[in-house]
Amino acid sequence: MTAARLVARCVSGLETVVIEEILTAGLGTITRVGHRSVEFAADRLGPEILGLRTADDVFLVAARGPDVGHTRDGLRALGGLARAVDARRLAHDRRRLGGGEIAGVEVSASFLGRRNFNRYDAEDAVGVVLAGRLGVPYHSRRGGAPPPEGYAGFRLVLDGAHATLMARVAARPLHRRDYKRRTIPGTLHPPVAAAMARLAGPRPGELVVDPCCGAGTLLIEAGRLEPRARLHGFDLDPGALDAARANAGPGAGIVLRRADAARLPLPDGGVDVVVCNPPWGGQVAPGGGLAAAPGRWWAEVARVLRPEGRAVVLIPDTAALAVAIRYGLLPGHLRHVSVSGAHPHVAVLTRQAG
Ligand SMILES: C[S@@+](CC[C@H](N)C(=O)[O-])C[C@H]1O[C@@H](n2cnc3c(N)ncnc32)[C@H](O)[C@@H]1O
Repeated sequence: MTAARLVARCVSGLETVVIEEILTAGLGTITRVGHRSVEFAADRLGPEILGLRTADDVFLVAARGPDVGHTRDGLRALGGLARAVDARRLAHDRRRLGGGEIAGVEVSASFLGRRNFNRYDAEDAVGVVLAGRLGVPYHSRRGGAPPPEGYAGFRLVLDGAHATLMARVAARPLHRRDYKRRTIPGTLHPPVAAAMARLAGPRPGELVVDPCCGAGTLLIEAGRLEPRARLHGFDLDPGALDAARANAGPGAGIVLRRADAARLPLPDGGVDVVVCNPPWGGQVAPGGGLAAAPGRWWAEVARVLRPEGRAVVLIPDTAALAVAIRYGLLPGHLRHVSVSGAHPHVAVLTRQAG
């Protein structure tokens, strides 16, 4: 049997981190990389593919053809695309990936450029045929009602060159984490936190600190990546610490304490890794000692990190790096990400030795 074709969708800017995760986990070979999408071929299909943490979601490619163009004739071509789906193989592959039985079909369409049909027209053109092929009911999104339990979510993407029809493997998007029971303003999108944890690369026994941990997303993701790392989180807000405790749960071994990131209760040079999206004043205002002097954040990180220690930090723009460099934190890697309408950078810095 030929390899299954899968698509990992991700936050813009994280494509190469997703590639690294797929290859490291031995999930398949990369066949195509696009904006927010990494396509890979997998011979072995198992539920470990649903363990991808840096992707927002994973889909099985059901059919691909040329883009159907902008006229309403394209709707007929979309029906043809759905007819080309090997329904038995699709249902079988999805089951092997841990996706369960397909009780019904729902389709969500997106396309580039102007079309003489709307997204519901495209969804219905594909959905009705697809549901027939699979022998299950079709739920149109036209009415706005959510689909019944167990309906598989299909995506139709018309990108100007191709029409791609794909099936979500899991019952819900992978970026939704079971652990995230409590949230706070400015909380991090879990796949971004997972990517930051991967870029930090915690090793067994290393001390990983988030000086402004909020609901704990970064430390929880770092712990999933390296369960033998020691994880310590601080925050000024007791409500945020409560959220982090609820999310981490009692077994995670994350030490959480109330403290000001401008005066961390840590000795000099004892921390191996800092991960953080600090309160730069966007969604969350800096409090405590950071309110009057936000630059103190970098000074404290430089103080507590050991020489050659790493910091992976979300910054709103690259201007912040000038302050970091002044404190001996040298940026070695920078990537621009787009998440929730914002376009921050993930900076990976190393504490200068000596
Ligand atoms: C952007 S949020 C962090 C979100 C977190 N990464 C998450 O995923 O939930 C910034 C956090 O900084 C905290 N904060 C503000 N000023 C602080 C200070 N001086 N010291 C420590 N924490 C502070 C806020 O209470 C807030 O929880």
